[in-house]
Amino acid sequence: MKLPEKVTIYEVGPRDGLQNEKTIVPAEVKVEFIRRLAAAGLPIVEATSFVHPTWVPQLADAAEVMTALGDAGRDLPVLVPNERGLDRALELGLKHIAIFGSATETFARKNLNRGLDEQFAMFEPTVRRAREAGLDVRAYVSMCFGDPWEGAVPVEQVVSVGKRLFDLGASQLSLGDTIGVGTAGHVKRLIGAFVDAGMVTDHLAMHFHDTYGQALANTFSALQEGITTFDASAGGLGGCPYAKSATGNLATEDLVWMLTGLGIEHGVDLDAVVATSAWMAGHLGRPSPSAVVRALTPPAG
Ligand code: HMG
Ligand code: MG
Repeated sequence: MKLPEKVTIYEVGPRDGLQNEKTIVPAEVKVEFIRRLAAAGLPIVEATSFVHPTWVPQLADAAEVMTALGDAGRDLPVLVPNERGLDRALELGLKHIAIFGSATETFARKNLNRGLDEQFAMFEPTVRRAREAGLDVRAYVSMCFGDPWEGAVPVEQVVSVGKRLFDLGASQLSLGDTIGVGTAGHVKRLIGAFVDAGMVTDHLAMHFHDTYGQALANTFSALQEGITTFDASAGGLGGCPYAKSATGNLATEDLVWMLTGLGIEHGVDLDAVVATSAWMAGHLGRPSPSAVVRALTPPAG
């Protein structure tokens, strides 16, 4: 069994983790969350979203957060769905954006207010202008395994939409199991289908949500297929406000624990991330859903 020697963890806690929380987290707490995650050795921390503030009120303070981060914030990726979002990111001198498309018609309508094909009319000028301005663009594709309204999503449909998004000019394509229904064999088939369609695994990342407790098994399957970038969220926070039944992401701590056990280099200080998640759980008023955070956090009293 050949596994990669080194993996990049793409931290999404401040964005995917907080976008779905009921408690509005103050901007200064978000800033400290981001700083602590970076200080714990996470090489990439997706900071916030420049989406419509009424669609995701939790991240309506995106500009305030990025301004407070100053120079350090310019290298952190942010979600941008359209040209208006890009303008807001450019005003702040940000250098990395991520667009987010849907593999299904229904979720495109729910999440982006447009159909599957129409989403490309929004992304095309956004990516073109971002690239002309020298920005790096990541592309997400959601509902890669199943969709709460449409059921199982055919692999060919995911490959077709994913490649189309990547070919707009992205440097990486993140395959999202938005509602966490994927299983290990399905992961292997999907990655294989992308490779058969000409994608190199270095350009792919996996984005697992842990709704059915499959995220680590799915990660292991993807490692065996040669994937070296994994999205994860500190403490296992996360979910999508526009996807019924989406729960937390793969927890960064759970991922770090498994990678360490496999002898795969990741560069992250586990204790520092656990302490950060325990601190954030205090702000959110609920315990972290991560098994590793719970195991490593002594009960109060
Ligand atoms: P829309 O209403 O169709 O927008 O929303 P529009 O283009 O018709 O514009 C309407 C008004 O909104 C205009 O203002 C625009 O300027 C304004 P008006 O002229 O009426 O005064 N507007 C904006 N304002 C601020 N920032 C913007 C922006 N865009 C338009 N960026 C839109 C379309 C895409 C904006 C909306 O649907 C939206 O914001 N959606 C975001 C939903 C979201 O953030 N979902 C969660 C992230 S995706 C996810 O979690 C999945 C992922 O984790 C992977 C996985 O798990 O699979 C990535
Ligand atoms: Mg997600």
